[in-house]
Amino acid sequence: MKINIAIDGPAAAGKSTIAKILAKKLDYTYIDTGAMYRCVAYFALMNDVDPNDEVKVCDLLKDIHIDMKADKIFLNGEDVSKKIRENEVSMYASCVSKYKDVREFLVSQQQQLAKNGGMILDGRDIGTVVLPNAELKIYQVASIECRALRRHKENIERGMDSNLEDIKAEIESRDYQDMHRALSPLKKADDAIEIDTSDMTLDEVSQAIYQLALERMNTLC
Ligand code: DC
Repeated sequence: MKINIAIDGPAAAGKSTIAKILAKKLDYTYIDTGAMYRCVAYFALMNDVDPNDEVKVCDLLKDIHIDMKADKIFLNGEDVSKKIRENEVSMYASCVSKYKDVREFLVSQQQQLAKNGGMILDGRDIGTVVLPNAELKIYQVASIECRALRRHKENIERGMDSNLEDIKAEIESRDYQDMHRALSPLKKADDAIEIDTSDMTLDEVSQAIYQLALERMNTLC
């Protein structure tokens, strides 16, 4: 049987890396919900809309069409996979994710995508709001030093400009914003299993969650 797996946690905790590995191991489909918020933010940026202007941001939603194919994300047909990773887009994404209309617009698409099971979704509100009945919920955390260093290395590998202190500040302020917003703030679902990956290798983390997924499937059979 195919289950749904929710992976939530703070920024740069390695959720998407782990989700991709797991999706391969289980032959499941991975949905990066953060990328969807990033698309809305990127579209606002491209249209010179201030992310703090809720009315204008929400008015853009009718012109936004998001598609995910393989590892790529398309915004109105354009492959924006790389562009949405810029630091400026990260802060914009956290800002626009506060708005009710934005959340409703994206959450309904995420629920639709996950309706048949066999999906791994990562984000901030997957276990609490998007898939409250997900068969396996993981809350993935890591120390701020560890997360900033990982993101810094990732940026360098992608050929992007990167400054460790700036990344640390950006992650901290984004986490604060994501945890303190009124709607669907980042928090651990009561039935989520918390994994601190600070001192774990990618292999160890993915293996641990893989085992949990197999156990879950066995108990449900
Ligand atoms: O996962 P990420 O860093 O790419 O997400 C970018 C922003 O999008 C994050 O700061 C908050 C928002 N987000 C959200 O509110 N809910 C989600 N399920 C995923 C992301």
